[in-house]
Amino acid sequence: MLRNLDPILNKANYKSYQPNYPLEIVKTTLGDLKEKKLDFLLDVGCGGGQSVNIFAPYFHEVLAIDPSENQIKEARSQNKFAHVTYKQGFAEKLPCDDVSVDVIVAASSAPWFDRPKFYKEVDRVLKPEGRLIMFGYWMPSLVPIGVSGDVTELAKVGFSLFEDAILRGANGDLAEEGMNRICKRRYVDIFDEIMYLRKQQFDNVLTECVWSLDDAKEYVLAYITYNNYLKGKELEQRELSEEERNARLLELDYSEQFVRSLKESWGCTEMENSDVKMKVIFNFYGIIAEK
Ligand SMILES: C[S@@+](CC[C@H](N)C(=O)[O-])C[C@H]1O[C@@H](n2cnc3c(N)ncnc32)[C@H](O)[C@@H]1O
Repeated sequence: MLRNLDPILNKANYKSYQPNYPLEIVKTTLGDLKEKKLDFLLDVGCGGGQSVNIFAPYFHEVLAIDPSENQIKEARSQNKFAHVTYKQGFAEKLPCDDVSVDVIVAASSAPWFDRPKFYKEVDRVLKPEGRLIMFGYWMPSLVPIGVSGDVTELAKVGFSLFEDAILRGANGDLAEEGMNRICKRRYVDIFDEIMYLRKQQFDNVLTECVWSLDDAKEYVLAYITYNNYLKGKELEQRELSEEERNARLLELDYSEQFVRSLKESWGCTEMENSDVKMKVIFNFYGIIAEK
């Protein structure tokens, strides 16, 4: 059987391994604004509504937009706020009146926008002293639990194997490579693009959870660039018999190679993947800019 590459399945996997956004992000980005309820928040590229859920309590009204109908459907199905509206829309043509928005949030979505167009729209719709908040995260650190050795060194090796497995999926896909570069460089390129003089970066907002090695492998598999890569490889192998093709795909499957290399470098080759445990630390960074 070929690996199931159905994008919905992958999205479901992606969702279950995506980190929960810590409330600390709201504290860091809204600061004093948190103290009095603001009128209007626009969340751009809202996906399933993760960032809306942490920001919504601080606003009287929230509009959240995403081009993907599926994402909007999912966001609506989990929505628990009467003052939040989800609708289809694009960063490059914001569905808001001029000078009508207090805060714009783009959570893990700005790398996908046509940003020069987006910034023009931001400037059109933001009120004076309105705030633009963009944040994201890169690969988490993997810190072994219950393994002997220098944990800091082992975590370093783990991170580089993990990052390598995920980045290989972007091989040859320039758009994906570009987006990965922006995230890996912690939005410094985006920071330079912003025309507002009052702008600052933040970093090191952390959240932790515990994974098994099975979870880490699933994260690699769920990553969209990785799936594009496997899909491409599958097409390349069309002429082979199913058996040969599956053997070849297993060889090309970096998620398996990642598992093997990690176990070797952490000295736990004899353990089941489900028994190899690690502390997973996601580190959020971003930009706060004021009109
Ligand atoms: C990685 S997801 C992040 C979703 C959500 N903000 C979150 O933090 O979970 C990126 C989102 O950006 C959306 N997106 C891509 N291009 C966009 C555009 N031009 N305008 C608005 N959203 C866009 C995608 O549909 C996707 O839902």
